[in-house]
Amino acid sequence: MPLSRLIIQQFRNIKACDIHPSPGFNFLVGANGSGKTSVLEAIYLLGHGRSFKSTLTGRVIQNDQPELFVHGRVQEHSLTRDQFELPVGINKQRDGSTEVKIGGQSGQKLAQLAKILPLQLIHPEGFELLTDGPKFRRAFIDWGVFHTEAGFHEAWGRFKRLNKQRNALLKDAKSYRELSYWDKQLAELAEKISHWRQAYVEQMTTVAQEMCQAFLPEFDIQLKYYRGWDKDTPYDQLLERNFERDQSLGYTFSGPNKADLRIKVNGTPVEDVLSRGQLKLMVCALRVAQGQHLTQVTEKPCIYLIDDFASELDSQRRKRLADCLKATGAQVFVSSITEEQIADMRDEQGKLFHVEQGNIEQR
Ligand SMILES: Nc1ncnc2c1ncn2[C@@H]1O[C@H](COP(=O)(O)OP(=O)(O)O)[C@@H](O)[C@H]1O
Ligand SMILES: [Mg+2]
Repeated sequence: MPLSRLIIQQFRNIKACDIHPSPGFNFLVGANGSGKTSVLEAIYLLGHGRSFKSTLTGRVIQNDQPELFVHGRVQEHSLTRDQFELPVGINKQRDGSTEVKIGGQSGQKLAQLAKILPLQLIHPEGFELLTDGPKFRRAFIDWGVFHTEAGFHEAWGRFKRLNKQRNALLKDAKSYRELSYWDKQLAELAEKISHWRQAYVEQMTTVAQEMCQAFLPEFDIQLKYYRGWDKDTPYDQLLERNFERDQSLGYTFSGPNKADLRIKVNGTPVEDVLSRGQLKLMVCALRVAQGQHLTQVTEKPCIYLIDDFASELDSQRRKRLADCLKATGAQVFVSSITEEQIADMRDEQGKLFHVEQGNIEQR
């Protein structure tokens, strides 16, 4: 859902910003350190409850200020009223406490806000998705499952709590019998979560392949989901079989928290074949594909935050990226140091914002 208004207060070097973004492309142009990434970080915080740059809220709140605010108006469609604007907001204090407001109501859940604002971030360091540990790829899959499966958030939360409980029980258990009651519930959730993840990967593979073709036509991409334990054993049996090993480790070794997405091109793992530049393109393609798939399945448009990425692309790919995003009617925020770097992406509907020392002015 596009943001029709964005208000940022006391966020890094942005004292106060109040803009009316375009439902299409929004370009943030300014020198290094002017505050472009901070605008994207603020939108990301609105949709995720945290920054993508820092785990410490204190770093994000403006120096010498006690708190930050990000407010937005989200354009929504409803059956009764054609289109209306839903006010949403987040406030963070230095002690880490968070207040979420939706439709004027305080005390709302972050997950609710995340549902309203599906976001995709594309930035030059994003290739950790392909080169680093499985947790990045699990987050990738779970983004999609979260936005398409209503029960996922709750089930995954319960799984994590039960898994923690099991690990605590493991330490003192005299026999497997002491765990079997918990493991039944755990196994049910594990199978459900794995099923959703598997189905999601299968569903979005075609779009991912098409998008990778557009950006890296010389490679043929394959996505394979690994659920975190061997595919022929039901999870309850596995837990029982591995009881002694898990006990000596002190935690449950296999399961949905070990799931991964194995990404290959022409049969070889991507990180062994692609150059750094190609990895960046691949990540960009995967993220665009994921947003497109969401829009196809749920009719929810996705907001793309593209930080310093235009400079990484040649003119042809820049145009291709812009065309793909325009085709889904997505709202896009693109940061760039110069106007030339975004010239290929501009159109009449787009808005240009000039960023200077934390001030954001529409041009
Ligand atoms: N907590 C903070 N309070 C005030 N200023 C900050 C804070 N954190 C970072 N900054 C400053 O804000 C600016 C952020 O710039 P950034 O958004 O990364 O710029 P750009 O993406 O345009 O290069 C930097 O100049 C940085 O020094
Ligand atoms: Mg930046």
